[in-house]
Amino acid sequence: MAFSHSRKALAASLALLAAVSGTRLMAHGDVTPQAIDTSKLPEIGADWRKHNPYRGNADAIKIGESGYAQNCARCHGIQAISGGIAPDLRYLELGDPGDEWYVERFQHGSSRDGKVYMPPFGEVLGQKAGWAIRSYLETVHSDD
Ligand code: HEC
Repeated sequence: MAFSHSRKALAASLALLAAVSGTRLMAHGDVTPQAIDTSKLPEIGADWRKHNPYRGNADAIKIGESGYAQNCARCHGIQAISGGIAPDLRYLELGDPGDEWYVERFQHGSSRDGKVYMPPFGEVLGQKAGWAIRSYLETVHSDD
């Protein structure tokens, strides 16, 4: 009797958990991206680069920091310190190899089985903003 009771309670809380996390994912995917003013940064054309043309650029780092706070922090954590919902971006590889993985995700996001884990940002924010955020992320990199 007590056994079947607790099984029921467990099933109910699992169902609730599934419902809550499902809503969260959708709510995240629906949030409108916040425009980032990149007019200060050098023009880099329309074709997507594979490697960060702004690496180490002080203006890009500043713009990227606020762009990150407005568009990425709600999933990846304030100052890139993940609360566990999404990967901790401090651990992204530095330099060219890290750039290639970064820009793939930034442009296309990540979806599996029809669920959006991360929305695509390439078209809505553009590559200048994308590389500015990458420039900021390299300044908070960690090896721990
Ligand atoms: C809706 C939540 C959400 C938002 C907003 C979001 N991401 Fe993500 N991101 C994720 C999730 C979840 C993953 C892991 C995807 C997977 O496992 O397939 C991810 C993965 C990544 C990765 C790959 C990390 C790795 O270690 O493999 C990068 C890079 C990344 N995101 C960058 C960004 C940037 C930059 C922004 C802001 C412009 C951003 N993300 C906004 C949820 C989000």
